[in-house]
Amino acid sequence: MVTTEEITLPLIDPTIKGQLLDPGVIGFSFAPQIVFGHGCLNRVGFLSIFLKAKNAFIVTDKEIEKLGFANKAQKYLEKTGIKSTIFNEIEPNPKEETIIRAAERFKSSNSDIVIAIGGGSVMDAAKVIRLLVKQGGKPSDYDATKCTIMAVHEFLPPQISIPTTSGTGSEVSIVAMVTTEKEKITILGYPLISTIALVDPQLTISCPPKLTAMCGMDALTHAIEAFVSLRVNPVADMFSLQAISLIHHNLKKAYSLPEDVIARINMSLASMLAGMAFNQKSVGLVHACSHQLSSQCHLPHGLANAIMLPHVLRINKKVSAPKYITMAGSFGLELENLPQDEAANRFILEIEKLNKELGIPMNLSECGVKEADIEAMTPNAMKDISAITNPMQPVTKELVESAYRAALI
Ligand SMILES: [Fe+2]
Repeated sequence: MVTTEEITLPLIDPTIKGQLLDPGVIGFSFAPQIVFGHGCLNRVGFLSIFLKAKNAFIVTDKEIEKLGFANKAQKYLEKTGIKSTIFNEIEPNPKEETIIRAAERFKSSNSDIVIAIGGGSVMDAAKVIRLLVKQGGKPSDYDATKCTIMAVHEFLPPQISIPTTSGTGSEVSIVAMVTTEKEKITILGYPLISTIALVDPQLTISCPPKLTAMCGMDALTHAIEAFVSLRVNPVADMFSLQAISLIHHNLKKAYSLPEDVIARINMSLASMLAGMAFNQKSVGLVHACSHQLSSQCHLPHGLANAIMLPHVLRINKKVSAPKYITMAGSFGLELENLPQDEAANRFILEIEKLNKELGIPMNLSECGVKEADIEAMTPNAMKDISAITNPMQPVTKELVESAYRAALI
């Protein structure tokens, strides 16, 4: 008879220091229920009935409301007899006080379901609104660097997440980012996950080219950072590789031909798959650095990731080069016959080429970031929860500063 002690699965990459999982133990819990399809927004009423809802709280932002998506959802809800309230005050990088205000409105409107229609900021805010409705307090009470929310025993109100961009993967993720007075914090845990991800690529067609590019590079960063993460999860890796291939083959098209339906469908799929990958394996130093660039220098998340990505890949190359060659295969590059270092550099150059073709600035100084900002951002980047799974460890002051400096000019 084989005992569990005798079974050693290759869950931890033996070449990398720092074991984040017990050998032989792995979790697979990839996503909420997913409804995916062009035009499937019209299912929102039926799905809310399925979740026994009577009063919906639609969370969105002013730009998305102007596009008419919230009103459209409201009409589908009305058809199934569900009343709704629209809260349109979520800003980019949602603030703690906005989320507290929204949670109060949810309660005073007697709502029983959250329907989030928007990008990552809206869907993240919606997750935290549910947490506050059930558990009270303020978002910073749940900062993942200080506590876990795995211990929430009672179910939160249900949430249907409807993305209008292809990038964050927030519709399937267990993560929410909130901006407090001092910093951008991560709130993390399975209780946060949406009940249903309703992914309608039609809603992404109105996403302007610049935003399409930045969000697409965010999704690519999720797929890449999850693939090279210290955590080992072969199922998540399949999602990463598929997402990388879809993004490489569709992002430029979605950027230059916004109404290309196939490119939009493939980008919605890629964003979702990348979200499912980083749910399991987390991200790395690109995100640790970019969170501070958003909170301290106000750079959009996808833009900060796109600029940091090649530079962090160069830093991590020492430990992750073989994985770069595997990912290059998903780009359609066959680099196996090249020396490892040269092949890894080709992969990084391909990402820089993609950034250029998407009109992404090549460095942080073009976006107004100054040398003096690096000193202020570094301590927070070092303690950012994303840094824990970066392949190159330890994430020292020198390592973070070298990443910022390389990206600066
Ligand atoms: Fe991200």
